[in-house]
Amino acid sequence: MKYALSQRLLHWIIALMVLGALAVGMLLGFLGFSGVKDTFGIDVTNLLYKYHKTFGVLILGLMVIRIAVKLAKGAPDYAQPLTKFEHSASNAVHGLLYLCLFAMPVLGWLGTGANGFPVEFFNWKLPPILAKDKELGGLLMELHGIVGWTLAALIFLHIGGALKHAIVKKDGVLQRML
Ligand code: HEM
Repeated sequence: MKYALSQRLLHWIIALMVLGALAVGMLLGFLGFSGVKDTFGIDVTNLLYKYHKTFGVLILGLMVIRIAVKLAKGAPDYAQPLTKFEHSASNAVHGLLYLCLFAMPVLGWLGTGANGFPVEFFNWKLPPILAKDKELGGLLMELHGIVGWTLAALIFLHIGGALKHAIVKKDGVLQRML
């Protein structure tokens, strides 16, 4: 009645990386480059941008592996059947989470390249997907922000659902991922 070990590991590694990318991304979005630089200095600022991009690209790679593993292994049965509402709500939240976790890194990569900034991956630079176009870059990064807030709301619902199953219903749903 549990997900395979590979699926559980991928879930928790991606979860930690997404929380980190969201927190750093929101800081960068709120303060902007000059705000971050004035607060933390240029060295820390460059590291925050570099590792935000690096971990974002890693999340994209891990999501591709995750979908492949899910297609190969599926999901375990529930110990107790879910209600119709729980089934639809969890399918909707999980589907949107997958969508956002693909959209975020892709938008970040597209927007960063279109803005003429390097797409850093550790000490490498990945090729920009789009040619420099500041207007398009601005639009893509705006979408990156909107999808980021949507992702934060979905994570809130996802954790709320998991806690409801663990604390209120005590029906073993959370145990499938532990
Ligand atoms: C799952 C992966 C990612 C998450 C959750 C994420 C999340 C975020 C969030 C929430 C923001 C703040 C947006 C705002 O409020 O305007 C942000 C900003 C930013 N993201 Fe990401 N991001 C991800 C991947 C990437 C990738 C792969 C890149 C580039 C290769 C990237 C580049 C940027 C840049 C440059 C900013 C700062 C924009 C500015 O200075 O205003 N992100 N990110």
